[in-house]
Amino acid sequence: MSVDATSAAVRHRLKQHLFLIGFMGSGKSTVASTLSATLGIPALDSDACLEQELGCSIADFFSREGEQAFRDRETEFLRKLRGQSPCLISCGGGMALRSENRALMRLLGPVIYLTATPETVFSRIGTDTARPLLKDKKTSADIAAMMQARLPLYEDAASLKIATDHLSPAEITNELIRLLQPFLSGDESR
Ligand code: S3P
Repeated sequence: MSVDATSAAVRHRLKQHLFLIGFMGSGKSTVASTLSATLGIPALDSDACLEQELGCSIADFFSREGEQAFRDRETEFLRKLRGQSPCLISCGGGMALRSENRALMRLLGPVIYLTATPETVFSRIGTDTARPLLKDKKTSADIAAMMQARLPLYEDAASLKIATDHLSPAEITNELIRLLQPFLSGDESR
């Protein structure tokens, strides 16, 4: 089967859910869109789903209810995936923080950890204001400290890892398709 993201002709079915995790700005949402379009598989973005459910932006929810309330919603989101048909899930950067979340993800399917250096993250989202946890952390050193604390948790959750720093979304997608072969089945009849 061709693994070229620009010319994949076969649509696929996922055998299990598939999770993309990683720090803010590691490219999860962009890669999820490209991968979903390339393979013809359904995709969900946990942040977008939660914003829809909450009826407000994540930043507003954080300032009104606080971080723990948001983490509770993330756990609830994962619990609800049990029994749903498999899809690709792009997770908010904090999804791996709770041990229950890590266990749930590992139980439900392969977890791919997209990594990026603090400098890459800073260059991608340094001026973004939508992420409440980066509001007062505006240097790559701030990002490095936060990333360092999370690293063991991402590693603990992950089954596969891809460094995204020097790759385009299409290149990451191609690499993912290669790594994910055991979890995909071709379905030319759809
Ligand atoms: C968060 C990451 C965000 C969002 C929220 C908290 C985090 O998602 O869920 O602002 O704790 O890392 P992205 O990783 O998609 O930016």
